[in-house]
Amino acid sequence: MELLNDLASLRAWVAARDLARERIGFVPTMGALHAGHLSLVRQARLRCDRVVASIFVNPTQFGPHEDFANYPRTLEADRAMLAGEGCDALFLPDAGMIYPDGFGTRVVVGPLGEDLCGRSRPGHFDGVALVVTILFHLVRPAVAFFGLKDYQQFVVIRRMARDLAMPVEVVGLPTVREADGLAMSSRNRYLEPGERQRAGSLYRALLAAKERYRAGERDPAVLEGEALRVLREGGIEGVEYVAVREAESLAPMERVSGEPVMLLAARVGRARLIDNMVLSLA
Ligand code: PAF
Repeated sequence: MELLNDLASLRAWVAARDLARERIGFVPTMGALHAGHLSLVRQARLRCDRVVASIFVNPTQFGPHEDFANYPRTLEADRAMLAGEGCDALFLPDAGMIYPDGFGTRVVVGPLGEDLCGRSRPGHFDGVALVVTILFHLVRPAVAFFGLKDYQQFVVIRRMARDLAMPVEVVGLPTVREADGLAMSSRNRYLEPGERQRAGSLYRALLAAKERYRAGERDPAVLEGEALRVLREGGIEGVEYVAVREAESLAPMERVSGEPVMLLAARVGRARLIDNMVLSLA
């Protein structure tokens, strides 16, 4: 796996792909990789000629009291995992390469980024959109791969790519889960053993809501109430939101129809965990 530590080597790598008419698959990450990230690399290998991953803990998507400083940084393990998965190149920018001196431009994603996670993380999705825009311009991928665990992030990035006519296909891939259903996340490392056990109820809450949906329930408040009940029974106190939304637009619905997705966020110990499930999928 080629290590691209500076912009010149990244640009040379991208230019060589252009010359060879190879389609680039791109997996942007913040590191602390797990099986979910590796599933993105695997799909990228299947769908593209060459795969490049990036690791950059992006400061502009963290709020002032969030975990930027403590975000897990596990570069050696990440490199080994990516190489083992057959990733062709790893782009490892530092902050100065992404945000050089004098940087002042902002990307504002609008209402899609203000609801749900955006309520407790104001500006978060603008920061994500900013760094993804810069990375897309540098890497020039044909296809970019994101995990659907971060469902709102996926919807925001797909919308941005369409709105701004970015020549990239934005692909979302299914959440990879632990044996008890907990969605894999770099932040699961923050969980103490008792918290880790309780965290399994996020998945159970989504499953319970899906059961009610399958039984014919179409009132979003009832479906949300069912998920909340399971979360409380599972000892999850710090629920931030549980919401049923239209899957494409994330718009609220009076009666559930079309393709509904349930999204939730909760604090468990030091970790802020999110998960989601499309209720209408088998
Ligand atoms: O999902 C992530 O890891 C990050 O939000 C992303 C997309 C790499 C942007 O920093």
